[in-house]
Amino acid sequence: MVSVSSTLSPALTTQILPVALSDIDFPRDADMPNVQQPSVTYTNIHKAAHMIRNHIAPVAFPTETVYGLGASALSTRAVRQIFTAKNRPLDNPLIVHISSVAQLRRVLDTKIPEIYEPLIQKLWPGPLTIILPLPAPIRNEDGSETPAISPACTPGQNTFGVRMPSHPVARALIAISDTPVAAPSANASTRPSPTTAMHVYTDMAGRIPLILDGGPCNVGLESTVVDGTVSPPAILRPGGVSIEEIRKYGGPLWKDVITGQSDAGQDEKVRTPGMKYRHYSPKAKVVVFLGQGDGSGGEILRYLRGLTGDVKLAVLPSRLFNLDSWDEEIKKKICVVKELGKSGAEISRNLFAYLREVDEAGVDLIIAEGVGEEDEGAAIMNRLRKAATEILDNGQYIVKK
Ligand code: TXA
Ligand code: MG
Repeated sequence: MVSVSSTLSPALTTQILPVALSDIDFPRDADMPNVQQPSVTYTNIHKAAHMIRNHIAPVAFPTETVYGLGASALSTRAVRQIFTAKNRPLDNPLIVHISSVAQLRRVLDTKIPEIYEPLIQKLWPGPLTIILPLPAPIRNEDGSETPAISPACTPGQNTFGVRMPSHPVARALIAISDTPVAAPSANASTRPSPTTAMHVYTDMAGRIPLILDGGPCNVGLESTVVDGTVSPPAILRPGGVSIEEIRKYGGPLWKDVITGQSDAGQDEKVRTPGMKYRHYSPKAKVVVFLGQGDGSGGEILRYLRGLTGDVKLAVLPSRLFNLDSWDEEIKKKICVVKELGKSGAEISRNLFAYLREVDEAGVDLIIAEGVGEEDEGAAIMNRLRKAATEILDNGQYIVKK
């Protein structure tokens, strides 16, 4: 267990509490998990669930995509604490996490449009967020109405995003809390999303009481956000489920699904409020190279030869780059090389972790090799484009900021 006293509020100590996935059995259609008892996992999940259920403070927990920072979606006070801890803009809605479809139906009076049925069948639990109309408000005895989900969770929206994570710790925590859990990624706003408990700790120490540590996240990029309440249905954010999978499993209703522009075009800004903000940004400048073959061509070398002075470089090659062909002078500037991987799954898993890691090495410039947009490539390129300060796309040069 690691802990530190906060410099902001000396009373708040952030604990990292271990949990073992092997202690939890949560069959797909069950409503409650079986958690090994007695066990450290049982104790720690119950500690975190107590905080959520009683609106004490937001807690961080692993999901299969990235670590989340969760609090009761039913309480405005609890949801506000998430925004404060992350320093998140208040108009950016949060995804509501549930442990089972039964829990969703039990707690929120909401109708799931039929278009989602095949996706829920095949892809839940998993890295898919669906957009639903807001549930009916709760009627009070005096005839007044209270929104079923805190409006702090859905600012300015007449919809809400909902997801059933497949990670046993996330699902068990939500089920045991017995509440729908609002949870953004557990990074400080603008930073890359966290895929380990230590990433969360780096951003959140002193701001939250506890982090459940279930090891590194398997997917590594956030969930895919789909909107089936519009026609044609749309992918608002590419993520852990690919567009190919949406088409394959969604059936005829999803075959014409459209994608928002991956670089936050006008539509996407309006429809996915979060996408307009700065995202995934390390401190160093990030330059993404696309369509450069093995990286030995003129364009990339021209760029690298143009770097003057004492520039500390990090390189994140993926499928093709061969650094051997680079000039000795350029190689001397390289402080760290982290290979993202060859498969889409590997690159997804490593991307955020490596952006953080090379940033911590104190480099000035991160050179990343982009990938094609098929399968996992769409989500990878969406995140890389947002992280980038410059993009060099085979003859096209885009300076973002
Ligand atoms: O994988 C994930 O989705 C992770 C884990 C923790 O579950 N969560 C996550 O949350 O990535 P966050 O808050 O970092 O990103 C949520 C995205 C934002 O871009 C937000 O604008 C969008 O989902 N979103 C949430 N509710 C929405 C709604 N009603 N309509 C449109 N977009 C919505
Ligand atoms: Mg996020």
